[in-house]
Amino acid sequence: MTHPLPRPVTIQPAERLHGRIRVPGDKSISHRALMLSALAVGESRIEGLLEGEDVLATAAAMRAMGASIARDDDGIWRVSGVGVGGLLQPEAALGMGNSGTSTRLLMGLVASHPITATFIGDASLSSRPMKRVIDPLATMGADITASPGGRLPLMVRGLCPAVPIEYELPVASAQVKSAVLLAGLNTPGITRVIEPIATRDHSERMLAGFGATIDVEQTNRGRIISITGEAELKPQSIVVPGDPSSAAFWMVAATIVPGSDVVIENVGLNPTRAGLIVALRMMGADITELDPRSVGGEPVADLRVRHTALTAIEVPHDLAPAMIDEYPVLFVAAAFATGRTVARGADELRVKESDRIAVMKAALDANGVTTIEHEDGLSIKGSGGDPIPGGAQIASKLDHRIAMSMVVAGLHARRQISIDDASPVATSFPTFFALLESLGGSVAWG
Ligand code: S3P
Repeated sequence: MTHPLPRPVTIQPAERLHGRIRVPGDKSISHRALMLSALAVGESRIEGLLEGEDVLATAAAMRAMGASIARDDDGIWRVSGVGVGGLLQPEAALGMGNSGTSTRLLMGLVASHPITATFIGDASLSSRPMKRVIDPLATMGADITASPGGRLPLMVRGLCPAVPIEYELPVASAQVKSAVLLAGLNTPGITRVIEPIATRDHSERMLAGFGATIDVEQTNRGRIISITGEAELKPQSIVVPGDPSSAAFWMVAATIVPGSDVVIENVGLNPTRAGLIVALRMMGADITELDPRSVGGEPVADLRVRHTALTAIEVPHDLAPAMIDEYPVLFVAAAFATGRTVARGADELRVKESDRIAVMKAALDANGVTTIEHEDGLSIKGSGGDPIPGGAQIASKLDHRIAMSMVVAGLHARRQISIDDASPVATSFPTFFALLESLGGSVAWG
């Protein structure tokens, strides 16, 4: 799904960033909206769906399993679902592109349906661990044959009826939690997930919104989420809030580029996603929440971000699950702070679209930033607000967030930073470069 041809780009240092932008729909919520709509009986309507490659991979897979999914000219998506238990045998392998969320959540759905599906993906996705979902889904009865090391390509042969389980998450992963809950939708009885450390809760919120019987309890073992199958889902009208993980790049960009003043509209502020705002505020960032409201059952606000000097911090480990996708851009913010920022407790970064600790270290070091690599994070010596030296080309390693984070770094560098391949940006944020231009930034392609 990622572009076959690499798209090199060079970032021009920016004078200041100024204006109002609207980030696209939340990626996690968009995947779930398509999947649950495709399992409801009747027509659901989705407004604000992220039209990035990852989400389009989910749409294509749900179509291949029987749902009818179409986009109106006004950007509203309409999905006619097949009903829980009604997924059809796909005729060909499901192409997951770069998308770990599509893969892991869909493996959960297939696991409890009487169908067999093969999952394939790009080089990045094919190197990511799937054992974390294979283990619980196999316990529920699915027969899963993976490539060596528990990787893609892999084949899931579902069992129907599957066996309900109680599963305590060995890693703090919303994808694993969601895979088990989605498998539980078509499994008679109560499927239970225990999460000692809370992760993003969009699946729970949306399953409840679609009428599933789902119960969430806070206990001394952590959150216990119980879903009762076989569920019947009712079609919904969903509004997807803007993605805080996409807003993150502009929060940091506006903070580090002197003179900047940017309003980012419609940003989802679900507490399980808002860790970066907490960390940036600890560093002294000037972020104001305007017009707080609720969109599609999620808290949302417009964020006004003005340039300010940042001070290094030790990032609290317990923020990690709520900002796991934001570490690359947090590392960039730290590169402009006064002092040495220590961001640890995030070993999951090693198994994202790339090894985000090693890849960000290489990218920052090449551009004159001093970093120390830890098994679970990075320590970064900041420039005190001055531009970083820059001048090097970095490798994005098929990782959208590496590419976008280094674009942000390049906005305040003495010499231009370039990126060997910016095409992965289209997986989550197709309008990223257009928004950069609208704020006064510029890049050169080729
Ligand atoms: C996601 C969960 C997180 C996150 C990913 C999206 C989701 O992954 O990094 O971008 O939508 O559930 P993990 O579950 O591996 O932590």
